[in-house]
Amino acid sequence: MTSSSTTLSLVDTDPAELAVDAIVIGVHSQTTGPDATSGPAGTLLLADGAESIAAAFDGKLTATLALLGATGGPGEVIKLATLGTVTAPLVVAVGLGPEPTGAAPAPETLRRAAGAAVRALAGAPRVALSLPLPDDADAPAALRAVAEGALLGGYRFAGYKTKPQPSRREPVAEVLIAVPDAADATARAEVDRATALAGAVRTSRDWVNTAPNELRPPAFAEAVATAARAAGLDVEVLDEEQLRAGGYGGITAVGQGSEAPPRLVKLTWTPAGETNGKRVALVGKGITFDTGGISIKPAQGMWEMKSDMAGAAAVGAAMLAIAALKPSVTVTGYLPMAENMPSGTSYRPGDVVTMFNGKRVEVLNTDAEGRMILGDAMARACADGTDYLFETSTLTGGQVIALGKRIAGVMGTPELCERVKVAGDTVGEPAWPMPLPDDVRKGMDSDVADISQVNAGMDRAGHMLQGGVFLREFVTDEVAWAHIDIAGPGYHSGEPTGYWTKGGTGVPVRTLVQLVEDVAANG
Ligand code: BES
Ligand code: MN
Ligand code: ZN
Repeated sequence: MTSSSTTLSLVDTDPAELAVDAIVIGVHSQTTGPDATSGPAGTLLLADGAESIAAAFDGKLTATLALLGATGGPGEVIKLATLGTVTAPLVVAVGLGPEPTGAAPAPETLRRAAGAAVRALAGAPRVALSLPLPDDADAPAALRAVAEGALLGGYRFAGYKTKPQPSRREPVAEVLIAVPDAADATARAEVDRATALAGAVRTSRDWVNTAPNELRPPAFAEAVATAARAAGLDVEVLDEEQLRAGGYGGITAVGQGSEAPPRLVKLTWTPAGETNGKRVALVGKGITFDTGGISIKPAQGMWEMKSDMAGAAAVGAAMLAIAALKPSVTVTGYLPMAENMPSGTSYRPGDVVTMFNGKRVEVLNTDAEGRMILGDAMARACADGTDYLFETSTLTGGQVIALGKRIAGVMGTPELCERVKVAGDTVGEPAWPMPLPDDVRKGMDSDVADISQVNAGMDRAGHMLQGGVFLREFVTDEVAWAHIDIAGPGYHSGEPTGYWTKGGTGVPVRTLVQLVEDVAANG
């Protein structure tokens, strides 16, 4: 399924003498000082790491790049033939934005620049990155960012073309990163870490990008289980019979409209050594296709609902990264999977469904299916016992309206929401805490059951918050929890940018891993 992946290594020799197809350097735009408004020429500034290349160009590199249109703007990629001045035939200047106030650009700036450069260099087998890396305590985070950006910008989904595409350039096969000391153990550990993390993100992108006819719940469960077993995780898969018998009313209701039956995949990481005793549960929405069911969606854009399993893909992939990184904390992933289809056996508006924790839900809109399968999975996670529960889902169009395509919405225990925000900022997957208002819960009081699935009058006010308020009903009191709505950030339908390619983004795989490591380190 995956295209051949990019490999990473470190080098500490002179970038001007590297035998590679292209050498990437950074350029800043200078927005301060007297030159700020004098146009592109003269406002460019070479970033650290470009010194020996600049020397080989006899001081003419900045002016030449400016002549080619370089402004140093974020994401800008300018290619320059070296004509023998340095060993590599091509110098590539990637824009880093204004000169940083600290020792080096922010990690996310480096991650995006590395991604943009590697993406633009598709077709070149071997590329070196000589970007500004600090030599202080921020060095590991900066190197990690460059490594992740390079590996993710080099991602391409294999696709389904029957014939080879002559015009299609292969992703960069080998990336060298210039560092002060290539043998440094900390630096090498960061490369290994980035390789594991980016590998997981790529896997989650592959699952999201797979056509929905090829990834119905049994096939998705099989794909996740196979990868998880290979990674050394404990795997348990509940089929439709076990789900019905086990009282998983929500997963059963949503799944019953499809010929491809539902699943619940449970993955467990148990650390070998001593732990701080904390347990983490990760839950992800795995609707392999969301037609809306009987409350069917309009045709326009419905195809994008092949990405409605991005939460489950992220949780499954995060578990693979966790198996590789071996944090000293117990982590269990829960991936409820169903296909939301309209048929003679579908659940319907008006149905009352008894969920795994015994609560009864009045269904008003079969298109609010995510919360039905998640409620069961979250209740199961609480029944198994956990201290922290992180759930992620492409849950509501309301998230996209409120926060846009890049920033996830977070609801739950306030302290844990804050922790999700901090983790997201650290890894470059921004998330914003949102409230769970009492009046929104009041609006979901049902005449006949314990709770309505959406506002009882079908009022869409606070639409994203209704999702969070509903899910809270399936978390037990002692568990700290956070719901991360990724309806926008889970899928990128625009043109590639930075290390984001078209399609599945892999958000929030890196946030989830960061949170698990945070719990392992700090309880
Ligand atoms: N999977 C959708 C939410 C979604 C929308 C994800 C756009 C990604 C992009 C979800 O199941 C859904 O249909 N939500 C409804 C909820 C409503 C029926 C309460 C929505 O957002 O309108
Ligand atoms: Mn839906
Ligand atoms: Zn959905």
